[in-house]
Amino acid sequence: MSAKSRGTAAESTPRSGMSRSLSFFLYLCCFFAGMFFTNRMWTMPSLDGIERNLDAKFKHETVVSEDHDSYPKKAVVRTDDGLEETSELTNVIEPLDQTILDLERKLAAARAQQEATSTGSPLSGSSKIVRSTSKHKYFMVVGINTSFRSRKRRDSIRATWMPEGETRKKLEKEKGIVLRFVIGHSASPGGILDKAIEAEDMMHGDFLRLEHVEGYHELSGKTKTYFATAVSLWDAEFYVKVDDDIHVNLATLGMILSSHRRKSRVYIGCMKSGPVLAQKGVRYHEPEYWKFGAVGNRYFRHATGQLYAISKDLATYISVNQNLLHKYANEDVSLGSWFIGLDVEHVHDRRFCCGTPPDCEYRAQAGSTCAASFDWRCSGICNSSFRIMEVHERCKEGEDALWSSSF
Ligand SMILES: *[C@@H]1O[C@H](CO)[C@@H](O)[C@H](O)[C@H]1NC(C)=O
Ligand SMILES: *[C@@H]1O[C@H](CO)[C@@H](O)[C@H](O)[C@H]1NC(C)=O
Repeated sequence: MSAKSRGTAAESTPRSGMSRSLSFFLYLCCFFAGMFFTNRMWTMPSLDGIERNLDAKFKHETVVSEDHDSYPKKAVVRTDDGLEETSELTNVIEPLDQTILDLERKLAAARAQQEATSTGSPLSGSSKIVRSTSKHKYFMVVGINTSFRSRKRRDSIRATWMPEGETRKKLEKEKGIVLRFVIGHSASPGGILDKAIEAEDMMHGDFLRLEHVEGYHELSGKTKTYFATAVSLWDAEFYVKVDDDIHVNLATLGMILSSHRRKSRVYIGCMKSGPVLAQKGVRYHEPEYWKFGAVGNRYFRHATGQLYAISKDLATYISVNQNLLHKYANEDVSLGSWFIGLDVEHVHDRRFCCGTPPDCEYRAQAGSTCAASFDWRCSGICNSSFRIMEVHERCKEGEDALWSSSF
């Protein structure tokens, strides 16, 4: 608060910042009301001066407001006409500006707090809140998990279910659907593998690079980093993970998700519960099998890893707690374990795990278009970079389904 404003404040009894700001506001109202009733508004010669002063003040304001803490305490903007009214107004407006800044800060903090309590996210004042930088709201972020070896798979997806270039941008802007191939870095940063991805990204612009070393802590580490990064970049209702050898129908996926948008914590996928494998050396071996009870038990239900979706609250939860969340041997089991103790609605939807043709084709003919198709025996479409074309031809949703949909 400036030295001048302290003079004004001294006339009133010391109160909280809130009520002081109120009284400044009332002061200003009275000031204008007084001018109105004394009919000075129309005759006052200095109105131009005031306006100029205000203009200068606000221009000044936009420059300094980027850093509130360095708000110059002594800065007084003057026009050189030296009119009484203008300096009087400056006296009122200056503390008022500061008060507005304070109020804005308080409001932002209160909003964050309220958001956290109403959604039940464990965000305390001290924890680092990952916030999206843009105010734009998205419907869903679809991260396609890919690897350095998968160029052919990416191209086959670009040639089938994923819109490219301007169409993809339009989808993002008009439908709020963000599509990205998700990949980290190689163990030797800036190496030939990273260069190849950079070149591919220059051409297509459809990558999300993670602070993650590919092949290291591969499984659940990448999942955590993906959700944390996606939540910080896009404020979306749903976050989806899909592998790069899956066929997806985006409008169908969007329709399914939009039917669950009223629920705040929802985990949607094809829910399964495979056996916990205790023997060493077998595929999907679980070193911590003893945690799951007697040998021969099954896991709790969890979404199969090929394609699943979680609501914003759950993605935020992962982002905030990523250092605490345990990684089991399998990525999909890990994700399920993070949610099994929370108030989460598990949604099982068969359309998230259709087979390749003829399965998805029959289903579509029966009126139930699939969101995702793959072969269970390959945990993706077998030989997908070749076969995804055929799957697309036979199981794709209507051409205009995506653009005519309203999410
Ligand atoms: C990503 O895909 C690779 C194979 O392309 C797979 O080995 C890995 O487990 C997947 N990661 C996640 C987090 O799904
Ligand atoms: C994949 O499919 C193509 C075309 O059908 C075939 O030429 C190729 O040998 C197949 N690759 C594998 C590994 O099965």
